[in-house]
Amino acid sequence: MIEVDQGYLDSDWVELVKTASQAKNNAYCPYSQYQVGAALLCVNGEIVAGANVENAAYGSTICAERSALVAANSRGLRDFKRLVVSVVGEIAAPCGACRQVLHEFSSVSGLELEILLHGEAKDTYQLTTISELLPHGFDFR
Ligand code: THU
Repeated sequence: MIEVDQGYLDSDWVELVKTASQAKNNAYCPYSQYQVGAALLCVNGEIVAGANVENAAYGSTICAERSALVAANSRGLRDFKRLVVSVVGEIAAPCGACRQVLHEFSSVSGLELEILLHGEAKDTYQLTTISELLPHGFDFR
């Protein structure tokens, strides 16, 4: 995990950050009031966004990362290059369940997923990869 200065982000990252940041506004989070936005860059160049969707049965909540992944899958998009996760406060890393779900598609496509975490509070960025976040993810292929 490395801290990255905004000035070092290429135009693809900048567009993904913008999309993830805007996606936060679509979060349904009446219980936590914690908005999370995610944006995936697919191999075909398309960007797919997601936001967290909470539920009165808390365990049924869907995180922004999985929301974006499911939205992409619903469009037949499964090969991903990059992911941005944007939160209003300080940088937050994906939860364990999201790491495993991200690992699934990285494993199937054979592509390492680059992940940029964005904290809007101080406009800070951290760059990592799915294999750094989840070494030895579950896989039975
Ligand atoms: N959340 C995400 O969307 N992504 C994460 O990686 C961690 C947590 C959401 C779930 C819930 O709606 C809120 O943040 C508070 O946990």
